[in-house]
Amino acid sequence: MKILILNGPNLNLLGTRQPEVYGHTTLSEIEAMCQAKAAELGVAIDFRQSNHEGDLVDWIQEAKGQLDAIIINAAAYTHTSVAILDALLSVEIPCLELHLSDISQREDFRKVSFVEKASFAQIMGHGPDGYPMAIEATVQHLAG
Ligand code: DQA
Repeated sequence: MKILILNGPNLNLLGTRQPEVYGHTTLSEIEAMCQAKAAELGVAIDFRQSNHEGDLVDWIQEAKGQLDAIIINAAAYTHTSVAILDALLSVEIPCLELHLSDISQREDFRKVSFVEKASFAQIMGHGPDGYPMAIEATVQHLAG
């Protein structure tokens, strides 16, 4: 079982970016948390980040027939990107929407999620711990 974990714009800055909102954990540390959880569950992960919408669309398209599930923190593109939604709907791979913060409790513009329309579940508001939680939820979803 292989899970693609995608991270959108500005998540490369985690650790120093608005720590009052996103905490002090870096994206590399989150990747290590994901690798540990994946090893524990006996699954493989492919962990990626890009600031570019088209990269995310390309990686979603390339996953078709190659990967079993997608976990995506599309960051700001969550709230704007029909292109990412269309890519997720095209590949017919189960998708889980992930956020560090609780987007339902923030500004109104963050309450709109295009990614939600292609996702079997959302995990938000758990900070970095949401990543291993998302892996567990995805493995359970695939098993069920
Ligand atoms: C985020 C929430 C988004 O609204 C924001 O644009 C991000 C990060 C989160 O993980 O909480 O960049 O996706």
